[in-house]
Amino acid sequence: MAHALDELIADGVEGRHVLVRSDLNVPLDGTTVTDDGRIKASLPVLKKLSKAGARVIVMAHLGRPKGQVDPQYSLAPAAARLAELADFQVTTAHDVVGDDAHAKAEEQKNGDVLVLENVRFDPRETSKDDAERAAFADELVSLAGQNGAYVDDAFGAVHRKHTSVYDVAKKLPAYMGDLVKTELNVLSTLIKNPARPFVVVMGGSKVSDKLAVIDNLIGKADALLIGGGMGYTFAAAQGYKVGKSLLEKDQIENVKKYLERGSAEGTEFVLATDVVWASAFAADAQNEIRPIESLEEGEIGAEGLGLDIGPETQKVFAEYIKTARTVFWNGPVGVFEMEAFAGGTTTVAQALADSDAMSVIGGGDSASAVRNLGFKDEDFGHISTGGGASLEFIEGKELPGLEALGA
Ligand code: 3PG
Repeated sequence: MAHALDELIADGVEGRHVLVRSDLNVPLDGTTVTDDGRIKASLPVLKKLSKAGARVIVMAHLGRPKGQVDPQYSLAPAAARLAELADFQVTTAHDVVGDDAHAKAEEQKNGDVLVLENVRFDPRETSKDDAERAAFADELVSLAGQNGAYVDDAFGAVHRKHTSVYDVAKKLPAYMGDLVKTELNVLSTLIKNPARPFVVVMGGSKVSDKLAVIDNLIGKADALLIGGGMGYTFAAAQGYKVGKSLLEKDQIENVKKYLERGSAEGTEFVLATDVVWASAFAADAQNEIRPIESLEEGEIGAEGLGLDIGPETQKVFAEYIKTARTVFWNGPVGVFEMEAFAGGTTTVAQALADSDAMSVIGGGDSASAVRNLGFKDEDFGHISTGGGASLEFIEGKELPGLEALGA
């Protein structure tokens, strides 16, 4: 049984250093944070600890800098946004476990929050070598001095066997942060006990990224609505020609098996019947609506590609969502970044916003999509902070960060 953050607070944290693993991995445009959802989601735990008088040290990553100090992956912009949103003192260290981090940790007063530089600037963070990760963990733990504690609140990273997620948890009294707890509750309900009908909307570019999730949802979901780039591999599996659309030929046989299993196990696959067919992958490309059985026959022809689900499909998807009592959505159903191809994703988001069903949006891309399309987080039941982590949880995999907490 994992220990909860509230147990740590009840034990007393005043004056103690608490190492918190947060997920501050947010999209940036230069040094501007373009979606601060994960920062906002990390705030409550930091606030709770700060209010209780802890000296909080935040460990987090940004992007994949491959074990080297690389300024474009600095956590400074994310930490600056955290400082703007916070009502407690936030300072940032210019290194991870170096002189600056140590000096600033020693200077901390009760309630202060110190954000270390990107933990992935140190190659040992992601090392496959247990001894290397353990050595890095010792250095991180040394920042906390005597009587330190560890809180994992980085749900988005629990699927990584990395030092700050896994090894530090083994070296200090470890607690589960409230964000991780909420995410687990929501996602467990989704796969163990969903109110029915349970409808899943899957999009995104690759079927191969979602195979295990689809595999685990067949038999559990009542309907699987497939859109996005991955939809063209389904169309090809049904025997349709898909021009230059995204296609994973090596997955066609797998998809055929899924379609058969779906019929046998009571999960209906709902696939596109029409598509927004474009002359090129470009915002201003010529485009037309094509029925799925004759994609290559219109004016644009076989050189075209599908960039969104068509209006008939959008209507069908919206109907399924309307009658559902639980909806899980992972992955945009079209190239929502381009206005001409945002109709499908907007329709799905609107149908979810209008619905009273328990709705869960999982995956970084879908979360950014709904925010960029102007929807508010409150429009939906739960926007998961986990991308890969939520998918791996739904796949039923054991997640190292949770294992380390004893969950
Ligand atoms: C995410 O963006 O899903 C998490 O922050 C994990 O990032 P990673 O896939 O680079 O480990």
